[in-house]
Amino acid sequence: YVIGIDLGTSSVKVLLVDQEGSIRGEASESYSLIQLKSGYSEQDPELWVTQTAKALNRLVTETNVPREDIGGISFSGQMHGLVLLDQEHRVLRHAILWNDTRTTKQCREIEQKLGENLLKYAKNPALEGFTLPKLLWVREHEPEVYSQAATFLLPKDYLRYRLTGRISMEYSDAAGTLMLDVSAKRWSPEILEAFDIPQHLCPELTGSDERVGTLLPVMTELTGLGEHVQVFAGGADNACGAIGAGILRPGETLCSIGTSGVVLSYEENPDADYEGRLHFFNHGKPDAFYAMGVTLAAGNSLTWFKDTFAQGLSFDELLRNLDQIPPGAGGLLFTPYLSGERTPHADAVIRGSFIGMDAGHSRDHFVRAVVEGITFSLAESIHTLRNSGQQILSIVSIGGGARNETWLQIQADVFDAEIVRLESEQGPALGAAMLAAFGLKWYESLEDCAAAFIRHSKTYKPNPERVQVYADLFKIYQRVYADTKQLNK
Ligand code: XUL
Repeated sequence: YVIGIDLGTSSVKVLLVDQEGSIRGEASESYSLIQLKSGYSEQDPELWVTQTAKALNRLVTETNVPREDIGGISFSGQMHGLVLLDQEHRVLRHAILWNDTRTTKQCREIEQKLGENLLKYAKNPALEGFTLPKLLWVREHEPEVYSQAATFLLPKDYLRYRLTGRISMEYSDAAGTLMLDVSAKRWSPEILEAFDIPQHLCPELTGSDERVGTLLPVMTELTGLGEHVQVFAGGADNACGAIGAGILRPGETLCSIGTSGVVLSYEENPDADYEGRLHFFNHGKPDAFYAMGVTLAAGNSLTWFKDTFAQGLSFDELLRNLDQIPPGAGGLLFTPYLSGERTPHADAVIRGSFIGMDAGHSRDHFVRAVVEGITFSLAESIHTLRNSGQQILSIVSIGGGARNETWLQIQADVFDAEIVRLESEQGPALGAAMLAAFGLKWYESLEDCAAAFIRHSKTYKPNPERVQVYADLFKIYQRVYADTKQLNK
């Protein structure tokens, strides 16, 4: 057996998987966010350790498998969060998380100082969530903390350090720091020098499937796992989500519609250039990459609509008549910028809209428009990928958006691509378990592991007529951003 640990933003999930990829047990424990000021989002790293140990212990105790048969563990984790450690590897302050937005000023400084080098080396624009702006913020606002810093880690790398005693960071997460030379897979001397960040602050880098060690005695005691268990480095949650959905070859793309939405596409070319419009990170598969676009309010747009106009309904009830309304929602168009947008418009200020309301429209028209608007926003990322030469052959759809058949068909028609649904969705924790399985050499490649672990259930093909209807509407959708921008200035 292997265990995948997904260290999320609100909870940690642990998943026990057998050699055929069947789930044999699952446990999770939650922890809270610390929000001292508006825009701040922090967490106490100690809680990640205690809650993970608790979840592992419960998994080992409650699942009926012999302890000695659990051979490996690996990790998936929330990206970008800054964990600062002193010389003795003690945590210096609470971790500043990916969804903390205090660093706008530092982002502008990074853009100014690095100019073209930012995209050349880090391959990504400077966003508030990323790690470098957080490090600069601490240096500016808490110099006494910064001066004691001996190294920094990301959330799941810190957790792994506490389990094994070894400090390291793996590439897929290091890519989200803005300090990694993503193509060359090394800390970028150009970026470190520009900000006067000493190289020794940056931890040793490893691959996602690399073995980093075994559990410390104190941790075998707390978790109930044996001292023979091999620990593998793991990956960023988006990389592990991709692995867990089998996105491991050129042409394979993932569409995940949760609170926010993600379009993620496998990429092999280290020099692929999306001009910073998409994130570009190292994959958890050795020497591979992925490009990713984010819709901030995806499922969240639907939640907002339900809470505001359809209190008391479940999502199933809300979407019950989705197929009764024709494509285009009778001329009603929605843009999902309820809390700004990330892709393709990195714009925290823009807000959403309903356009084309008719006195004859019912609530079901509005629901259909919201679903289509979310899908249009994700289609912007798909278009950016296609415009840069990526061929998108099939798209695996996961999350809330994959639970409704009509929405899956809307995705096929709006994206003009075949949509695949999975038999069971385990998310990034499964990807982490697959990294452990691959690390233990159960399989020769992650692709072989995916063939054994991941089962497709149903495919939705685009309908040419509806593809055309949506292609025409999409042109109007794209114009709304520029035309409504002034409203929110
Ligand atoms: C990616 C990002 C989020 C976090 C969530 O850039 O900020 O997806 O990884 O955990």
